[in-house]
This record gives sequence, C-alpha cells and structure tokens, in this order.
Amino acid sequence: MSAGPLSSAAGPARARTTFASLAAMKAQGEPIAMVTAYDYPSAQVAEAAGVDMVLVGDSAAMTVLGHESTVPVTVDEMLMLAAAVRRGLSTPLMVADLPFGSYEGSDEQAVATAQRFLKTTGCDAVKIERGGSSVDRARAIIAAGIPVMGHVGLTPQTAATIGGYRAQGRTAEEAVALCESATALQDAGCFAIVFEAIPSAVTAAIMPRLTVPVIGIGAGPSTDGQVLVFHDLLGIYDGHAARFVKRYANLRAEMVSAVAAYADEVRSREYPQPEHGYGMPVEEAARLRAILDASTPPRAKWA
Ligand code: KIV
Repeated sequence: MSAGPLSSAAGPARARTTFASLAAMKAQGEPIAMVTAYDYPSAQVAEAAGVDMVLVGDSAAMTVLGHESTVPVTVDEMLMLAAAVRRGLSTPLMVADLPFGSYEGSDEQAVATAQRFLKTTGCDAVKIERGGSSVDRARAIIAAGIPVMGHVGLTPQTAATIGGYRAQGRTAEEAVALCESATALQDAGCFAIVFEAIPSAVTAAIMPRLTVPVIGIGAGPSTDGQVLVFHDLLGIYDGHAARFVKRYANLRAEMVSAVAAYADEVRSREYPQPEHGYGMPVEEAARLRAILDASTPPRAKWA
C-alpha cells in the first residue's frame, strides 16, 4: 500500500497507515490504535473512527460465527470476511489472522496460505500466533515478501496447551521465555507484535528490548498501542468478556430493543406506514381496478 493523504466528504484528509508510519509512531511515542473488524460495516466504522490499524482476527470464529474457540474457523471463512473488510477500509493498515492449522505444518504451507490471503483479500499483512516453530514460519512468509505480525502471550489458537484462557508470563522463567519469543519474532523480521494477557510489569520489562511496535491487549499501558475486539468494545458480543475488555457502548441491548420494537409494530400493524410504501399514478390504479373487475376472479387451486 502506498502512503498518501486521502480526502473524504466526512472530514479532513487522513494519511494512510504504512509500515513506515507505524515505525515512526513508535519512534515518536505516538500511541497506535487498533481494532478488529470482520465485515464491511465494521470496517467502515473503523475507517470513520480513524483507527490506525485493523485486524481481521480469527476471534471472528467466536464473535461472528458462534464457535466456542478460534480453532474451528477455516481459511475460506477468513478469506470471505477479510475481503469484505478490505472493501470498507482505505486508511488503516489491514492485518489478517492466518487461522489455526493453516500455517503451522511447514514453511511451504505458511507461505502458500499467506499468499492466498494477500492475493484474494488485499490485506497488507498477516498475523500468526506463538514463538517456537512460528518464528520459522514468520521468517519464511517474510522471505516470500509478505509482512508478518507476531502474537505472543495468550495465544487463543493453542489455549489448550498453555493452560487455557489465562494470563501468561506470571513467573520469571515464563516471562523470560515470552521475551525470547518476542525478540525471536522481531529478529525474524516481524513488523509488529501483539502482546496478549501479559502482566503489565512483564510487558514493561520486555519493551526496552523491542524496536518494532508492540500492540497490547491486556498487557498494560507500556506497549506502543492497544487492540480490542470490535464486538467486545461495543458490547455486541454476549459471551464471556476478559478482564482487559473495556466496554465503550452497550449496543447489544440497543439492538435487541430495536428489533423487539420492530416486531411489536409488525404485530400491531403500526409498521409499515404509507411513507414506507411505493405509490402508483391514480389513473393507473383506476385502470388496474377496471381490468381486475372485468376478469373472472381466480378460483382457489383445489376448490
Ligand atoms: O483474533 C483476534 O481478535 C486477535 C486479537 C485479540 C489480537 O488475535
């Protein structure tokens, strides 16, 4: 994606986020705002709100598709969601999650999946979870010319092997391992790293060792930016909310009451009113009546 100011009827021109502008934000200590989006309207909201980055997270498995974890979402499902998000975005940098099972097997698998995401969705970068073998996968994808965002700490795709959905790095040894994963991802060439559910003190201790932007979610205030799940921050999702979630709205309640009001009005025949229907020229209505009056009324099919 090339940098350049965009103008819109809604407000002053806003520059596109680029990999260079993200690095500059980190250098200048300017916080980076990131949010997830999963479809065209949520992408349009993120665009209008002026966030810097948008993640098509595999959290879609839970927030949009109703699964109990992120594991079941498929590449094809993520591709469809990411393509819709692309159509709603112009300025934020767009990152798409590679889903569980689509990159871990080999460097070849990782590169092929990342290429599919770039070609079919137009995302700017992909995100993969964990250190360990994912560091090699990240290096291979980057060598193929595709920017990669890393993700350490609570990695939901492998929650079963890290003790469930709980904070990571709570002992000094665990925190050192986390630091090693993050620096290995940085050395592999990741342009940014997500820190999820990590004690604030651990994040603060690791930050001086990282030169790439770190985007936190439940990792305290010392990261270069924050990310939240769209449905969590807007109060749309009805499932469990982690302690790091701050709700900025309670849209689910508003949505339920709006749909209930609509159903009530349908049942009471208050909706639709004349202004919700289409008119017909008076003379055409008269002609129609004449034609129908002159014809034999249709008989019931089985009469
Ligand atoms: O899938 C997702 O939404 C994520 C964020 C929580 C970082 O990975």
